[in-house]
Amino acid sequence: MQHFIVIGNPISHSKSPQIHHAFADSLGLAISYRRQFCPTDADSFRAVVEAFFCGGGVGANVTLPFKEIAFELCSPINGGALSSYAQSAKAVNTLALRDGKLYGDNTDGRGLVADLIAQKVDLQGKNIAIIGAGGATRGVILPLMEQGATLTLFNRTLLKATNLKDEFAPHGMIGVQSLDALATGDFDYDVIINATSATTTGQQLSLSPNLKACVAYDMMYGKPSAFLAHFAKQGARTLDGYGMLIHQAKLAFEMWTGTQLDLDKVALEK
Ligand code: ATR
Repeated sequence: MQHFIVIGNPISHSKSPQIHHAFADSLGLAISYRRQFCPTDADSFRAVVEAFFCGGGVGANVTLPFKEIAFELCSPINGGALSSYAQSAKAVNTLALRDGKLYGDNTDGRGLVADLIAQKVDLQGKNIAIIGAGGATRGVILPLMEQGATLTLFNRTLLKATNLKDEFAPHGMIGVQSLDALATGDFDYDVIINATSATTTGQQLSLSPNLKACVAYDMMYGKPSAFLAHFAKQGARTLDGYGMLIHQAKLAFEMWTGTQLDLDKVALEK
C-alpha cells in the first residue's frame, strides 16, 4: 500500500483524495490518499512534510497557502531539488523523494495545457490572453509558451504584469496590458484565461465588451463564474478549471507511481 497526502489550510473541501483513489482504482492499485491539515507557518509545514516522508509516504500534494513555502523547502540551498516548472512558477504543488532529496514539481500549468488539449483547444500559434499576474499566472506561462502560444497578460496593476514579462523574457515575448486599456481599445483572442483570484473571493472583475475570445477558461471551478458568464453571453465556448484539477492530479499520480493513466477508464464524480 502506497501512502499519499494533500497538505493545505483549509483542506476539508479538497477533492484530491477521491480523484487519486479513482485513479488508483482504474489501475487496480491499493493506495491511501488523505487530507492533511497544517497550521500556516513554515515550521509546521516542514514538520508535517518530514514526518510524512520519514514515515514512508510516497507523495504529497500541496495546496493553498503552502505552495511558495514548499518551493523554499525544495530549493537546492535547503538541500532539495526542483523541476524546471516549479522553478519558473516559484511554487510547488507536488512533492516526492528523489535520491534521498525532497523534490518539488509544479503540475498546475501542464495540467491546464493538458486539459485544453483534451478539450480540443488548439494552442500552437494561437493568441492567448491571461487576466491576472499573480502566482496562478506565473505557474501557467512556461507550459503555454512551450505549446507555441503567444501570450498577453492583462492585469489591474500593470507593474506586476511587466515584471512577469521581464522575468520570462528569456523564454519568449509576452505582451502586457492594464485592465484599464479595455475601456478604450478592442482586443480579440483565441483563448482567454482567468487567473485572477476574483472568482474565489467573489469580487467583481471589470471586463468590457471590447474584449472578445473564442474560448474562455476560468482556472477556478465549483463556483459560479461571472467571467465565464460574460464570455458565454458573447457566444464564446466556456470551460472551468475542473479539468485542470484532474490533469494536474494525473501528472502527479503518474510521476509518483511511474504508471500512465487512461482517463477514459477512471470513474470520476464531478
Ligand atoms: P494567485 O496566487 O491566486 O494568483 P495573487 O498572487 O494574490 O493570487 O494574485 C491575484 C491576481 O488576481 C492579481 O493579478 C490581482 O490583481 P492585482 O495584481 O492588481 O492585485 C488579481 N485580482 C484579484 N482580484 C481582482 C479584481 N477584483 N479585479 C482585477 N484583478 C483582480
